[in-house]
Amino acid sequence: MTVITFTVSVLCLLPQAVLARWACVRACPPSCSCTAERSCSVLCDRSGMAELPKEFPCEASAINLEKNRLKFLSERAFGTLPSLKILTLDHNNISFITPGAFKGLSNLVELKMAHNEYISYLHTRTFTGLKKLLRLDLSDCNLFSIPDRIFIEQTALKELLCFQNNFRRIPGAIRGMENLTHIYLERNKIEAVAYNSLLGLGSLKYLNLQENRINVIHDNAFQDLTRLENFYLNDNLLSDLPRSAFRGLSRLKMLNLGGNQLVNVSKTWFSDLVELEVLYLDRNQLLNIEEGTFENLTSLITLHLNSNNLTTLPFSVFQPVYFLGHLYLFRNPWECDCSLEWLKEWMENYKLVRDIPCASPSSVAGLDLSRVVFANMNGTCVDPTDLNLTTPSSELTPTTENRFNSLISKLLQQELREEMGNSTESLRNGTLLESEEGQLSAGAGGQRSQLLLCCAVVWLSLGWISLSDVLSCT
Ligand SMILES: *[C@@H]1O[C@H](CO)[C@@H](O)[C@H](O)[C@H]1NC(C)=O
Ligand SMILES: *[C@@H]1O[C@H](CO)[C@@H](O)[C@H](O)[C@H]1NC(C)=O
Ligand SMILES: *[C@@H]1O[C@H](CO)[C@@H](O)[C@H](O)[C@H]1NC(C)=O
Ligand SMILES: *[C@@H]1O[C@H](CO)[C@@H](O)[C@H](O)[C@H]1NC(C)=O
Ligand SMILES: *[C@@H]1O[C@H](CO)[C@@H](O)[C@H](O)[C@H]1NC(C)=O
Ligand SMILES: *[C@@H]1O[C@H](CO)[C@@H](O)[C@H](O)[C@H]1NC(C)=O
Ligand SMILES: *[C@@H]1O[C@H](CO)[C@@H](O)[C@H](O)[C@H]1NC(C)=O
Ligand SMILES: *[C@@H]1O[C@H](CO)[C@@H](O)[C@H](O)[C@H]1NC(C)=O
Ligand SMILES: *[C@@H]1O[C@H](CO)[C@@H](O)[C@H](O)[C@H]1NC(C)=O
Repeated sequence: MTVITFTVSVLCLLPQAVLARWACVRACPPSCSCTAERSCSVLCDRSGMAELPKEFPCEASAINLEKNRLKFLSERAFGTLPSLKILTLDHNNISFITPGAFKGLSNLVELKMAHNEYISYLHTRTFTGLKKLLRLDLSDCNLFSIPDRIFIEQTALKELLCFQNNFRRIPGAIRGMENLTHIYLERNKIEAVAYNSLLGLGSLKYLNLQENRINVIHDNAFQDLTRLENFYLNDNLLSDLPRSAFRGLSRLKMLNLGGNQLVNVSKTWFSDLVELEVLYLDRNQLLNIEEGTFENLTSLITLHLNSNNLTTLPFSVFQPVYFLGHLYLFRNPWECDCSLEWLKEWMENYKLVRDIPCASPSSVAGLDLSRVVFANMNGTCVDPTDLNLTTPSSELTPTTENRFNSLISKLLQQELREEMGNSTESLRNGTLLESEEGQLSAGAGGQRSQLLLCCAVVWLSLGWISLSDVLSCT
């Protein structure tokens, strides 16, 4: 008797919050554990549960039912839980959800139902009552589609995760959901993006469509995505894009078009992407990049062009030059003739590019562009294959450029002699092609001479030394 009186009187002295905590633990369902630190959490994960507990603590703010064997959710499966914010049902075996299953969870913010591989169908009224839902995870289920009006009450929804399902088109249900900021639809079987698939998504910042089967994007399909920042379209089947595919996406920071079948890059594609920082065009079959393509990409930091079929890259493609932090060009069949001389200079001066293995001409095949030294005749670059070994030196006008080149050449050759001993024969097949005056030539210089060369170029470009200073060393 005294104990009860004592308990009651203590309870009466306790603040409301403490009472609620006590109730949370007391009403904890069997085979669950409940903690009531800041709010009431009900942990029922990994407990082999095949059916839901009859009751949950009324104060519950989070319920975790992950990794059980739940198969079925009845109407009002969780009763009325006005404090519930987060409900986790990942990794169960749910195959059917009765319409209205979540009624009574009027303040639920996050619903996680990923990895329920037998959910292939959802009724239009599945989510009835969830008016505050901000985040819904339906990833890695077995959905082929969802009804167009399924989110009719979820107007506040910000994040929708539906990756790794079987969607063959972008669900019509997301159209007009103006509060959505993140959509995950990667690893489905989507084949096209229609002009109206993404209408009315004015808050969207993140859209992931990677690893689908998209081969057609209709004109203006992305026109409403004016706040989009990260856009994954990589690993699809795109061989072309509409002329103004990304028109109006002036906030876009990252665009991934890698792993498609693009052959030509049109200069109209990226006209509006003034905030784009990272562009992936790797793993396509690019042969041509139109002049002016990157003209308006004034914020670009990184450009991935590796693993394509590019043989050359006109300087004009990068005009005007705003950029860059990194330019990735490896795994392309580069033709290292004079048209790429500018790129070599870039490599040396800005250190933005490395790893450009040459596929041709044969005399430099296998070498990195940085190691190809372009010969100069009468002030004109001479392509490696065109160089005539027996050209008499008298035909060469000794210009300042020639003399400068000659200096570099001597540096390189000295290095080579040190490396290779005194056999000139061994150099014939490589790229070191020595003419009588030591005219510019070699391709396989040692690191020291490269360093010297780079330093000279940098010092020259910085104006620290003059050309005559350099030449006076000879
Ligand atoms: C999951 O549900 C499916 C179909 O409802 C059933 O065939 C399968 O045996 C269940 N698996 C487990 C582990 O209960
Ligand atoms: C978006 O959310 C705000 C509040 O978060 C709400 O007022 C508005 O109605 C929502 N938009 C729609 C289309 O419901
Ligand atoms: C790429 O451009 C070339 C020449 O401009 C054109 O002949 C070819 O058809 C284009 N290929 C594609 C797939 O657009
Ligand atoms: C770059 O932007 C200007 C101004 O918006 C536009 O006139 C021009 O066509 C754009 N360049 C390209 C290659 O689209
Ligand atoms: C690109 O190169 C690959 C491999 O060398 C080849 O199979 C493919 O046909 C090429 N594509 C084009 C458009 O030339
Ligand atoms: C170099 O220039 C001179 C005079 O301009 C010309 O006669 C000669 O043919 C040129 N040599 C080569 C290899 O172009
Ligand atoms: C190389 O130059 C020599 C002498 O000028 C000339 O006879 C020969 O035809 C040239 N060879 C080539 C491949 O241009
Ligand atoms: C350098 O040349 C000399 C004489 O021509 C020869 O005896 C010697 O073996 C050569 N050294 C090397 C490393 O090839
Ligand atoms: C030059 O190349 C030919 C054919 O590729 C080869 O037979 C020869 O041994 C090479 N010579 C040297 C010095 O590497």
